[in-house]
Amino acid sequence: MELQKKLQSHGSWVGKWTFILAATGSAVGLGNIWGFPYKAGTNGGGAFVLIYLTCILIIGLPILMSEIIIGRRSGTSPINSMLSAAKDSNRSSLWRFIGWSGISAGVLILSFYSVIAGICLNYIFIAAFSTGEISSSEQFSIVTESSINLLIWHSIFIILTASIVSAGIDKGIGRMVKILMPMLGIILVFMVINGIINGAFSKALSFLFSPDFSNVTSQTFIEAMGQAFFSLSLGMGSIMAYGAYMPKEQKVGSTSLTVVSLDTLVALFAGLAIFPIIFAFGLEAGSGPGLVFVSILTAFNQMEFGQLIGPLFFILLSVAALSSSISLLEPVVAYLSEERILSRGLAAALISFFIWLLGIGSALSFNLWSDKTIILNKNFLDTMDFLANQILLPFGGMMIAIFVGWFMKESLIKDELNDVSGITYNIWRFFVKYIAPIGVAFIFYSFVRQFF
Ligand code: PHE
Repeated sequence: MELQKKLQSHGSWVGKWTFILAATGSAVGLGNIWGFPYKAGTNGGGAFVLIYLTCILIIGLPILMSEIIIGRRSGTSPINSMLSAAKDSNRSSLWRFIGWSGISAGVLILSFYSVIAGICLNYIFIAAFSTGEISSSEQFSIVTESSINLLIWHSIFIILTASIVSAGIDKGIGRMVKILMPMLGIILVFMVINGIINGAFSKALSFLFSPDFSNVTSQTFIEAMGQAFFSLSLGMGSIMAYGAYMPKEQKVGSTSLTVVSLDTLVALFAGLAIFPIIFAFGLEAGSGPGLVFVSILTAFNQMEFGQLIGPLFFILLSVAALSSSISLLEPVVAYLSEERILSRGLAAALISFFIWLLGIGSALSFNLWSDKTIILNKNFLDTMDFLANQILLPFGGMMIAIFVGWFMKESLIKDELNDVSGITYNIWRFFVKYIAPIGVAFIFYSFVRQFF
């Protein structure tokens, strides 16, 4: 009865494809198109990409399935899903704190995510009116030098996110994602073809796919792992929260595989679209967060119809960012509203306001505070990114794997994993039980060890 009430406050995805689209919408975003190329760039390319792909496969995929299992069986927000899975397995209710750590990670991530997404919104107009008179690097400096400019776009993006979440995510979003995500895919393919024709494509290929392990450090590992969690939206309850709205008859295994493949494909395509331009125009591969903006604008400036395709690209990227940002806000709003602490609308508004405030620090990291370091020599934005992506998400993911692998009742797991049986089940279980937690723990350990 209790559960029924909670469920009614959220609704459930209509149609078989909607979950795949929504989960892909959550996974595919700035992480793939902005984050992956720039992190591959600053970490030297191939080796980073290989470690990233390995993490996706042996840590990400098993944990993604685990999150869906926990979310779908109870149909509630991550905190209550964890609570119910723990209770029904006769385990301590303390497991619900994984939900809390996830919510904190979501808040931290959305605070800087919104600033970057704001820059994307701004670039819709910049790409439309850019004549190529000033270089794209200068253009990026102009955009980021003005804190007011960044704050305005940050505010617009947060308001968009909050309005969609407060309306309830089953209305509208599904439909929007269904049309716009495939369009983003098409334009990315187009950009890759552009890279093949006009860029230094073979140089890009060897940069991304011939690993050079000589410069790999524990730093490379923790960044690649963090990027894998971030890109798949794992370790913080987004996928758990979306899993809660997934119909019972849908298959967990094949659905997860689809989501993971699409997400990885988009990241790789983004790399293949961006690096040929970087190398052809002598741009700096390791230049950091500005990489995608500078390289893509350079390409559009050279291209026929660039002033048309450019804005389209940034519109689609902004939509991809929006379909991710709503999944960052959803877990906490779902919790506050199902507990009847606040209404959906009020929860969305209040939490977003707090996130907006926190985001100011990230906006200022591009200008006034660019020299201010918080931890490990990182500025505010990098600190948020580090804490959330490289610490909280892998930690949350590791705990979820430990819970499902060691503490959750097996009959409960089997009830949900309707399409995975026999040997596939055993392999999955082995990865959840051993490989994923040990992998994360090992990377944490080697990262911490370098300080001693
Ligand atoms: N996966 C999203 C992206 O790649 C970001 C995200 C992280 C969304 C964590 C939800 C949870 O952009």
